[in-house]
Amino acid sequence: MCGIVGYVGSREATPVLMNGLKRLEYRGYDSAGIAILHEGKIKMVKTKGRLAALEGKLNSVDLKGHMGIGHTRWATHGEPSDANSHPHVSSGGKIAVVHNGILENYIKLKDFLISRGYNFQSETDTEVVANLIDYNYRDDLVKAVIETLNEMEGAYALGVICTDCPDEFVAARKDSPLIVGLGKDENYIASDIPAILEYTKNVIILEDREVVRISAGRAEIFNLLGERVYREVFHVDWDVASAEKGGYEHFMMKEICEEPAVVKAAISPRIRDGQILFENFSLTDEMVRSCEKINIVACGTAYHAGVVGKYAIERLVRISVEADLASEFRYRDPMVDKKQITIIISQSGETLDTLMALREARKKGSHVVSIVNVVGSSIARESDDVLYTFAGPEIAVASTKAYNAQLTVLYLLALKFGQIRGTVNDEDIRYYLDQLMGLPGNMEEILRDKKEIQRFAAGHYNAGSIFFIGRNIDYALSMEGSLKLKEISYIHSEAYAGGELKHGTIALVENGTLVICPMTQDLLFEKMVSNIREVKARGAVVLAITSRKHAPEAEKAADAVIAIPDIDPLIAPVTAVIPLQLFAYYMSVMKGNDVDKPRNIAKSVTVE
Ligand code: F6R
Repeated sequence: MCGIVGYVGSREATPVLMNGLKRLEYRGYDSAGIAILHEGKIKMVKTKGRLAALEGKLNSVDLKGHMGIGHTRWATHGEPSDANSHPHVSSGGKIAVVHNGILENYIKLKDFLISRGYNFQSETDTEVVANLIDYNYRDDLVKAVIETLNEMEGAYALGVICTDCPDEFVAARKDSPLIVGLGKDENYIASDIPAILEYTKNVIILEDREVVRISAGRAEIFNLLGERVYREVFHVDWDVASAEKGGYEHFMMKEICEEPAVVKAAISPRIRDGQILFENFSLTDEMVRSCEKINIVACGTAYHAGVVGKYAIERLVRISVEADLASEFRYRDPMVDKKQITIIISQSGETLDTLMALREARKKGSHVVSIVNVVGSSIARESDDVLYTFAGPEIAVASTKAYNAQLTVLYLLALKFGQIRGTVNDEDIRYYLDQLMGLPGNMEEILRDKKEIQRFAAGHYNAGSIFFIGRNIDYALSMEGSLKLKEISYIHSEAYAGGELKHGTIALVENGTLVICPMTQDLLFEKMVSNIREVKARGAVVLAITSRKHAPEAEKAADAVIAIPDIDPLIAPVTAVIPLQLFAYYMSVMKGNDVDKPRNIAKSVTVE
């Protein structure tokens, strides 16, 4: 949500900032802008709409200079408009600011600044930050930023330039991500690594409440007391190609096609001599043995992976597991204590509600294990233990490969916990590891048959409403199928547990209603066949997704069947989700939607 880029060095800053902003488009935005400091003046171009609109405006403006800041904005305070786009400049034109986050006490600060003669051109909280820095500024930009941050309540990542400082700019963060990229005689800031990957792989991940002064030759970090602090430099091993489309029409399709490799990458480093190993784990066997309950907390797709994780852990570990939405968990004063383990799942590692849920769980004494994709992200850093998903950058807003990777890690965790608690024996471990290692091959097979799903989508992309029905793990999978469909095709959709149909929802089924039924759970297959018969009796058109061994039976009940390779039902969501992701993808393409950047949603949700 919102993207920030900053540059200082010998290159022209505008193309570097534009490249960076393009790499951050996936985060979601509705306006964009850049400001360059040149010959003592701040020049700025900004606009409502996509980066193409900004590029259009830049064609008619001479924006030369070697230092600048850029921003993609996802509107919170004030509608998407030219005036509300970032950067924002202080009343006298001395300070320009880009900001990600929400300033909670901005009304009070704005009133104060108005009483001191400042005027405002926008409805944003960010313009308050620019004016407050100007108000606090004497002759030291770092000092003025620190004073301002000490008066601000809320979340922020900031980039600040000042007409008095031609060779350096200042950045800061709290609860919103910001990294510093270190080049040779040039330096960068960005909300995320892909923005600077083509220029440098050496990054510093700023901690909360840290301020950095950046010139071409150095990056000096300070805490909010103005004291110097020193941070480790990370070398990122993602390659530039991983953040590019590589011949695919959309990132989403590229990322779906990467899933077999992603699942392999999540398993391979964790298996040695037939045993599951989590390196540098501080969670002891004793803590696992004495654990009384497990909480799984996440948002969106990561939450849906967590619901599958609940089924898997309860089945393999025989312990009570609660899967909860982070935004609900954090505000319900959850009954968490030190006898419980909390698993936090997040692709970005920056989702604010998830981060706050993590803090709530730790505050109450629970050991937190996080399953995270982005290395060094806030959730990764604040957890007691981290299991990285190694999925590489996920650029499409709709999460796909991260889900498979999260599931894979959850299965490994469930097996490990089961082994420690004695609910899983060596033979079970061998069996499940064999099944897990067979997944990439099975996934490749499904991906080879994409055309079948494309054809089915071609016949239904005008549907007004689509239901997903499943039981047990397939219900969790249905929730993910339904979310994927609605977020990129904009078709209304709901997921229901098969057994719940009769309790109300079946009233909505009428002639032509499309119902999609994942049915991978052997024990519940017959029950799902009955559900199909019930909806078909009311005129529904049914697509079933089931294993090859059940396909002939499913074909007798459903209108169409997608058959996937036979695997153990417990791990079936890793393969069965692929047809659902492809279905959502093709529906979106056929409707002419912006598949990778669907309307209204952001990739990294850093506000509540
Ligand atoms: C859906 C999607 C979102 C995210 C959710 C959590 O396709 O991408 O629902 O899953 O915003 O994000 P992370 O995993 O980054 O915490």
